[in-house]
This record gives sequence, structure tokens and C-alpha cells, in this order.
Amino acid sequence: MFASLCLRLPLLVVSLGVASALALAVPQPSPVTVALTSRRVSREEAALVRRAPARNNLPKQVPLDNIFEGTDLQWVGEIKVGTPPQSFRVIFDTGSPALLLPSTECTSTCTTQRRFDPSKSSSYVGGTRVSIYGFFTGGGVTPIYGDTSMVTVHNATETISIGGLSVKKAAVFFITEQTPLFAANPFDGIQGLSSDASGFMKGAIEQGLAPLFSMYFTPKSVGNANMLLGGIDRSKFRGDLWYASLPTDVDLSGLWALFPTGLKVNGAAVPNKDAMIIIDSGTSNVVLSTAETEAIYAKITPEIKPNPALPGTYGIPCASLRKIRSAEITFTFPSQSGRPFDLTIPSRELSVGPFKGNPELCQTLINADDRFSILGASLLKHYYTVYDMGAKRIGFAPNGV
Ligand SMILES: *[C@@H]1O[C@H](CO)[C@@H](O)[C@H](O)[C@H]1NC(C)=O
Repeated sequence: MFASLCLRLPLLVVSLGVASALALAVPQPSPVTVALTSRRVSREEAALVRRAPARNNLPKQVPLDNIFEGTDLQWVGEIKVGTPPQSFRVIFDTGSPALLLPSTECTSTCTTQRRFDPSKSSSYVGGTRVSIYGFFTGGGVTPIYGDTSMVTVHNATETISIGGLSVKKAAVFFITEQTPLFAANPFDGIQGLSSDASGFMKGAIEQGLAPLFSMYFTPKSVGNANMLLGGIDRSKFRGDLWYASLPTDVDLSGLWALFPTGLKVNGAAVPNKDAMIIIDSGTSNVVLSTAETEAIYAKITPEIKPNPALPGTYGIPCASLRKIRSAEITFTFPSQSGRPFDLTIPSRELSVGPFKGNPELCQTLINADDRFSILGASLLKHYYTVYDMGAKRIGFAPNGV
């Protein structure tokens, strides 16, 4: 999901403001050598492992479950909050900065989700700062836009435990009110994972966890999807990781984002706006500028057209789906080694299923928006991804399934 503090201002602008308020410095890593197993390790990876202090830093597995609602595009895992712990299912979201959970203070609009009860936790410290977040996402096949998917929260600190790793006094935001579209989510809350390491990750890194996490998104039929906190699992991908540096000349304010240098459909170049693209584990669809979206679709088939019922979305008659069966979309990024690398969305991701209320019209993957660009799960499910806060970079390698 791509989150921003609302109201009424353009999403990205506001989002940058919010995220910087939450941004926290990454502690300086101390160079301590950690024993490596006998497999060959690239120099880049060896440097990465060395950055972790030698105590209390074993990587933590977090099993993920795919929410399959016609498409394999959203993964959730467990998080425990409070003393004694209360459990929740959350999206681990590289597109937003903070942990948001419904609380029992949310009486009328949070009834479909598990709610945190502060009166049952001895470690709860409530704050009074109220914020309103707007979310942008493409959950399932229905894209949700900022104005319609909003939550009101207040700040607090709590003991948070993820993958068996517990952090005391971590920042959390409790939802006191939410819009119906947010309440419809098949999960309780969102654990934002910003590139600035805030909240749980900040505390975990201070306790010695290596400052990175990896995502392995597999379809429900394959299973074993997981997030690895503080580590990289080489058995989950093929070849070496390609690393792209986070841009340093823009204020990322906690986002994970890159500048693609090329865009292709079946190998043929499409004009690339050269805009920053958010790498977002909590969004299912792809969002590009209107010009890029329409240039891509024009190269595939003129039968893909805007769907005026849901502005920004496009569809193709489901009867014509065979016309998009062989269209792959490729993004090129500059790597740290100087050589560019390609990330490809296979053609089977291009249709995300019929629009709700219009079974004849199938939604196509890319939504258009001229305010920001997002690469979501339809790409990330094909790559093992490493989000490295310490070295300010993202690594990609093809999934080993
Ligand atoms: C909530 O935010 C306010 C204002 O930023 C801050 O002073 C307070 O310490 C926070 N409370 C908690 C419990 O984090």
C-alpha cells in the first residue's frame, strides 16, 4: 500500500511530509565479522553480513500467507502486540512507514477486524497525536484510491513481536476510525517497513539485527512464502542478487523507490518518463503515468481501453484475453555494478480478473496515475527481494520456484 497523510492535498506531496515526521536515523553499523558457512559468498554479500553486530542477530523467519481472491497478489503474516501478546494479521508493506492496527477504541467502523485492547496490556503507552492516513492500493482486482480508503489513528508505544523477535516501546498507531473500504480488507492492519528503519525495525536493529529484510512471495498453490528479518536466504532464488541503489538526490522520506532507465513490451522499447517508481510489497497492481500506461497497452492490443466506471483503470473484454497472452512488460534498472538489469512481469499477470459488477470486462494490470508510479506484487512475486536499509539499496533475483 502506498500511504499518505491526508486531506485533499496531492497524495505524494503529503506522503513525503508524513514520512519525514516518522523518519528515524539508522544507527551506525559497527564492522564485526560474522562466521559464514562454506558456500561461496559474493563480496557484496560478505560486506552485508559483516555489518551486523555479532550478538542477538540471527535472521528471523516470518511465514506469510497468500490471500487468494482470484489473484495471488497479497501476503499477510502474524504480528504480536502487547503484554500478554495479542495477535494480528498484517500486510508487511514497503510502501508505508508505520504500524497501523485497529483498537477497541474503534467501535463502529472496525467490527470486521481483530482489534487491539489496550486495557488488557501492561506495556501499552497511549499518546494523543491524531493523524489521518489515506491509502492507495490495488487490493484484489478493485483499485482503492486515497479519498476512499482512510484511517484515523493516534500514536502509542507497545511491545511488538514479529518472527519471535520482540521489541519494547516500538511506535504503533492505533486506528480509531476507518472508511468502509479499509474495513473490507481481509487483514487486520499494516506493518509499514520504511527505508529509514522506524518502529519495530528500528528497535530490532538496535538489538543487533542486520539492517535488512527479504521478501519471498509465492502463489498460494506453492506456499512457503516468507519474510526474513535480518537475512538473505539463498535457497529461495536463482543466480546472484542484482542491487540497485536508492536514489540519493531526492527526499525518499522512508519510501523504497528506484528510477527505471527503460521500459519494454516484448523487448520493444516504450518511452519511459524517467520517473521514480515505488517498490511496494503492499500493492498488487502496477501504477504508471497515463502516457506510459497507454503506450504499453497500445503495443499489446487496441482492445485494452480505459474503464470510465473506475477512473485510472483499464480493461479488455474477457472474451479477448488471448490477445494479451504473450505480452511481457520489462523494467530496466541501473545496478550498483554499473550494468543494467531487467525485471519482467510475465504475461500471465496482465489480466487481474473481471471487474466487480462487470463480469464481461477483465481488468488489466497497469493503472494510470500521474502523481506517482508503483511496482507491486505482480512483479515482486517473481523475484526474491532484499530491502537493505544499511546499504540503502534493493536487491532482486529470480525466485527459485
Ligand atoms: C505521541 O506523539 C507526541 C507528539 O509527537 C509525542 O510527544 C508523544 O510522546 C507520543 N506518544 C507516544 C506514546 O509515543
